Amino acid sequence: MSTPRFYVTTAIAYPNGRPHMGHAYEAIATDVIARFKRLDGHDVRFLTGTDEHGLKIDQAARAAGQAPKAYVDAMVAPFQALDAALEISFDRFIRTTDPDHKALVQALWQRMAANGDLYLGRYEGWYSVRDEAYYDEAELVEAQDAAGTTVKLSPQGTPVEWTVEESWFFRLSAYQERLLALYDSQPGFIQPQSRFNEMRAFVAGGLSDLSVSRTSFSWGIPVPGDERHVMYVWLDALANYLTGADASGQGGLDGEWWPADLHVVGKDVVRFHTVYWPAFLMSAGLALPKTVFGHGFLLNRGEKMSKSLGNVVDPAEMVSRFGVDRLRWYLCREVAFGEDGSYSDEAIVERTNADLANGIGNLAQRSLSMVAKNLGGVMPTRGAAGDSELRLKQAFHDGTDAYFAAMNALALHRGLEALMGMVNAANLYFADNAPWALAKTDVARMAEVLAATLDATRRIVLLAQPFMPGSCARLLDQLGVAADARDFNALNTPVAAGAQLPPPAGVFPRITLES
Ligand code: MSP
Repeated sequence: MSTPRFYVTTAIAYPNGRPHMGHAYEAIATDVIARFKRLDGHDVRFLTGTDEHGLKIDQAARAAGQAPKAYVDAMVAPFQALDAALEISFDRFIRTTDPDHKALVQALWQRMAANGDLYLGRYEGWYSVRDEAYYDEAELVEAQDAAGTTVKLSPQGTPVEWTVEESWFFRLSAYQERLLALYDSQPGFIQPQSRFNEMRAFVAGGLSDLSVSRTSFSWGIPVPGDERHVMYVWLDALANYLTGADASGQGGLDGEWWPADLHVVGKDVVRFHTVYWPAFLMSAGLALPKTVFGHGFLLNRGEKMSKSLGNVVDPAEMVSRFGVDRLRWYLCREVAFGEDGSYSDEAIVERTNADLANGIGNLAQRSLSMVAKNLGGVMPTRGAAGDSELRLKQAFHDGTDAYFAAMNALALHRGLEALMGMVNAANLYFADNAPWALAKTDVARMAEVLAATLDATRRIVLLAQPFMPGSCARLLDQLGVAADARDFNALNTPVAAGAQLPPPAGVFPRITLES
């Protein structure tokens, strides 16, 4: 049987500021999925990167007094450094200024043109530079600015400006029926369900043709045959997923990884990914991605992160304060994937002390240090299963099933809930059998209890790897698990009795809030 393949992407970030916790969250969640699939026997391609063209970047570069390319070259570095700090296992970090991408976007344009879907016209309407999005009048909301004047804002609450210019248009209106048919025939295309409902209603309400080029600035990919125009930045940006599908780096439209299995994006950009993107692909005669998952927004203590509120947190600093795996664990455990979630220093300390120090760390430390102290660090032999072993086995059987069901359904938080159920069952087994007391009365039984506990710990740590790759690798070293016995195929392969274990060292110390 051939190895199943899985192509997963994040949205590509605008590098017009420093990366924030929202970027970190999306990268972590997508990395967890990519690592899960690799451990589960898939050949995975994982794409992430930066979205570097368009008016927003052009304006930011001007404000910084730099040429746009020099500006983005400097601004991309912190995004790449953040990915390294977060241990994001991407296969390619694409920049939309990469040469293979330009060639691909122009080829895509030509396919859409050949299909008769592009025509020259004149755009007169609203545009939000912050969202890089066109809005119909009816979508706008009115608000008061600081001076008490009534202003129009986009549905995302960003300023809009009246824009009039010659533009190429894409016949989006012609795709309404096909989009609705797609949503209805492939209900998993938009997840979770709440986003599906919203997008279906939006498309059912009717679609106008979409302006897909600009002439008032030049920072973008030129329209083939009409170089006064640069392409609309979202057409350029969405096509990154096709560019990244060609692992040879040639920028061919026939990339061997296409179609993507999963685009992970934030809820604010679901429309671009589930309306414009499939319509562009249909127009070009290309296959459609299988799923677009719109995750929620991360809030700082329940509030939107914004420069004006002064609550923008540097994720790199969070990594240095808490450690990468505590941050990864917290965000996946505490935020229901798909919904908005909140973080604070207190919550991170509390959650990770409970789950990691008291839960997994305690389990590993207590059993490993008893093996070191009482058995010379030699892996003991399992005994015949009695009642408490059977109970433990049942809890692990059910917990493992629940873990896989949740992870395959992208319910990362429920995967961790299942894992914590197993941690609690194993800690209960250890407490009930009190091996520290057996050390004085029945060493043979003590050894059996330790063997069962260590194997339960091994299973837990194997399953925790997508969430905390570094800490789990250190724990698996201590548990004597060979490097080639760490994927999910090895779940039922215990460490051989008699193996010499290295001296244990705590992996999850308790932490406190610094004053
Ligand atoms: N460049 C576009 C995406 C193009 S994809 C072809 C963009 N960039 S962004 O930098 O604004 O956002 C990048 C991703 O981060 C998006 O998926 C966005 O939804 C997500 N998030 C931005 N702020 C966020 C939070 N506060 N919380 C969680 N995710 C957030 O949009």
